[in-house]
Amino acid sequence: MEYLSMLPGPTNVPDRVMRAMLAPIINHRSDDFVRLYRDVVEKTRRVFRTEGDVVALSASGTGAVEAGVVNIVRKGDKVIVPVNGEFSGRLAQMIEWQGAETVRLETPPGANATFGQVREAFDNNPDAKAFYVVHNETSTGTMVNYLDRVKDLASRTGALYVVDSVSLLGGAPLPVDEWGIDVCMTGAQKAIAAPPGISPISVGPRAKKMMLADPPKTMYFNLPRYFKYYEESSHTPFTPALPLMYAFREALSMMLEEGLDDIYARHRACSEALYAGLGAVGLSPFAREEDRSVSIVALNYPEGLEDGPFRRTLAERFRVLVAGGFGDLKGKVFRVGCMGEVSAYHVMRTISAVSSTLAMMGFEADAGAGLAAAQEKLGSL
Ligand SMILES: Cc1ncc(COP(=O)(O)O)c(C=O)c1O
Repeated sequence: MEYLSMLPGPTNVPDRVMRAMLAPIINHRSDDFVRLYRDVVEKTRRVFRTEGDVVALSASGTGAVEAGVVNIVRKGDKVIVPVNGEFSGRLAQMIEWQGAETVRLETPPGANATFGQVREAFDNNPDAKAFYVVHNETSTGTMVNYLDRVKDLASRTGALYVVDSVSLLGGAPLPVDEWGIDVCMTGAQKAIAAPPGISPISVGPRAKKMMLADPPKTMYFNLPRYFKYYEESSHTPFTPALPLMYAFREALSMMLEEGLDDIYARHRACSEALYAGLGAVGLSPFAREEDRSVSIVALNYPEGLEDGPFRRTLAERFRVLVAGGFGDLKGKVFRVGCMGEVSAYHVMRTISAVSSTLAMMGFEADAGAGLAAAQEKLGSL
């Protein structure tokens, strides 16, 4: 029987999207490809809510994040970056590897820097070239809720505003142009519900100008090269992962058919149902309440419950996949993805499988209370 992927990515991929990969291989220097890629770019623009340039990289999310760093950050630059987990740590590391100085706003895992802390960092560092932020820290299940207010801070100092929304874009509002985001990166395998391997990045006019003036000394992630190819022929400079591109387009079409606002509402309702339901089962969320993510639900393991046997039982007996913790949180938390096609079915099946597994392993778990609490939050979903 197939697994239900409640991982923080890759998430379940609808059959319609999987079937799109069976389309024949085409020449990526042909009108067939031009039609496909233009459609991908236009649909990605609508999902990002941007009129800016979009590049759909054949790479995992890290590729898009790296492209967002190496095309902007140079030796001697100063960059502000909140750090509170694995992915924000990697982002800061990539920036430092470029020879830049980071102003790291460090907060404990499970808690975000406050907007006041971010404002203070801008006030104290008016010379910062950019503000880089992870929208949704996948390793701990936190989400930043003030990205709409950073534009004013960045425009006061002229800093570029760059967002890694790999594990959230499409699952919660992030209107790139309206919120003044210069560069935004995501991955196909999370809220977009496509297979892993395509990672789009949007680039606004200010950032594009900067990139064109000083292209990076790198080949694959050289965004000015992608702009040139797109402007001249609507091609990509290198061979694209064609089957994944078809699947990605199908996933974008499904999103636009459902409607972005309805998708955001569904992610919120399902995450609230998971927090409430798993809470009533007897588990406690890891992240601070005001910072909790709508796409990743991180839960503390009860004292004595071992990560390996718990997740193995959940996968083997009930075919439900969840993820463990990263680094210091290994063995202390597990993470449930709530993204893509997530619905009442995914939520209820996960709560029932988690409760049954806990009970099988000798822990108290009130499945009935969990399902009832979740149902209340799901409403008519
Ligand atoms: C916030 C964030 N950034 C970057 C990445 C890296 O993406 P990938 O594993 O697709 O390279 C992830 C992956 O989970 C992520 O959650």
